[in-house]
Amino acid sequence: MFSTDMISPQTGSSMRANGSGRPSCKVFFAKDPLKIVRAQGQYMFDETGEKYLDCINNVAHVGHSHPYVTKAATKQMELLNTNSRFLHDNLVQYAQRLTATLPEKLSVCYFVNSGSEANDLALRLARQYHGHQDVITLENAYHGHVTSLIDISPYKFNQLGKDSKKEFVHVAPSPDIYRGKYREDHPDPASAYAEEVKKIIEETQKNGRKIAAFIAESMQSCGGQVIPPVGYFQKVAEYVHAAGGVFIADEVQVGFGRVGKHFWAFQLQGEDFVPDIVTMGKPIGNGHPMSCVVTTREIAEKFGASGLEYFNTFGGNPVSCAIGLAVLDVIEKEDLQGNAMRVGSYLLELLVEQKKKHPLVGDIRGVGLFVGVDLVKDQQKRTPATAEALHLIYKLKEQKILLSADGPYRNILKFKPPMCFTMEDAKHVVEKIDVLLTEMEEATGMKTGNDVSANIQCKIKANEGSPQPESANESTSHLNGAACRQENGFYPEKHSVPSKTIRT
Ligand SMILES: Cc1ncc(COP(=O)(O)O)c(C=O)c1O
Repeated sequence: MFSTDMISPQTGSSMRANGSGRPSCKVFFAKDPLKIVRAQGQYMFDETGEKYLDCINNVAHVGHSHPYVTKAATKQMELLNTNSRFLHDNLVQYAQRLTATLPEKLSVCYFVNSGSEANDLALRLARQYHGHQDVITLENAYHGHVTSLIDISPYKFNQLGKDSKKEFVHVAPSPDIYRGKYREDHPDPASAYAEEVKKIIEETQKNGRKIAAFIAESMQSCGGQVIPPVGYFQKVAEYVHAAGGVFIADEVQVGFGRVGKHFWAFQLQGEDFVPDIVTMGKPIGNGHPMSCVVTTREIAEKFGASGLEYFNTFGGNPVSCAIGLAVLDVIEKEDLQGNAMRVGSYLLELLVEQKKKHPLVGDIRGVGLFVGVDLVKDQQKRTPATAEALHLIYKLKEQKILLSADGPYRNILKFKPPMCFTMEDAKHVVEKIDVLLTEMEEATGMKTGNDVSANIQCKIKANEGSPQPESANESTSHLNGAACRQENGFYPEKHSVPSKTIRT
């Protein structure tokens, strides 16, 4: 997919590899891309030895190039790598360790190699379960790059024109209480958003169609850092189950302790919620390509009953499982879940102070080390400050900090750093953001400081994912995987701030 002739020697940006004049593969900071040659912990180093603080790479979950993980991989590679047609202890041990982190009924694992593979298999399981075909997905959702998932990713298929939605796909409103249909002032946004799903089911059934699955990220990432109000998933699951469908929780971005208090982000909804299928990816192998689908015995048995053999050449190989086990060990030994909770709370606190001070900050939302800063041009109208967000991330890069802007309007600064991110890192990056916001506000004549805090009702929500009084939205992208079209630095030509004095 990448070839040397796609890289311009002048600009370093990816070249027009297709007839449309738009490249399909893109690099970060296209105007001045980074060449990263090594990384450690929460730092990445370029070819000149310059060190960058990585605030966005959730794939390097336990820290870049963690020695314990690389040792586990090397040791197993030296001994054996093969496929799952042979018995191997690593696979059994990994399945046991992984399912021990999940509610009891989620007891059957399928090992695959990417988030897309996991979600594609989840769809097959769901469709096989009752023979239904239709899928309900959320506005702005992204679930992967293969055909079956582009079909259910409005984030992608919307770019293909108005007739691009397939008839078996139904799009429910994103449960976003900052920008969505029902906001923080609604008495029960969880029920209101769930009702929307119920309406879709009823409509679908009237047309003689049948729901196979509802799929959602436990916290919507590319879609704009949306943390669904508590109780939403329970109600949706009730309606979907009644229609003969299953609930698929996509934890590809947000799983493995990132939310701090829980190991899985769907657990923010409460103990009474258990999805039927959970899909995992990115952080699971700390950069090694592996992923997993976990489901119930009942769903797995129906899948097996189809008579179709399931085989995956690389899924569940002994090296991947050794790596998966090492990642779980490090999370535990280094108390990274606890770190996510502590550092995440501190980061949120610091950012709340920024919100009081800066009119450009419309909303701060987050849980653990999954935090979003929604930049707005107008506090009342919540007009997305897209150019300002892009300006800011370019300026931060000059200061050797890698942050990203995402969400449907690309105005949300998103934090999802390696889980070894420290209090000092949080303080450092927020101090830099403070200076840059002040500069931008002065340049554009926006009011700062007390003028602002008097007018703005601070709505940070606790580091718990609790729904009231507001949501925590997020957005996702990552340095090593460019899933989201609005990733940091993809729009270098457009990121001008409406000011003569600011240059990007
Ligand atoms: C929520 C979500 N699900 C699935 C995927 C697909 O994962 P992969 O790129 O590993 O195929 C992504 C990728 O960004 C994602 O963000």
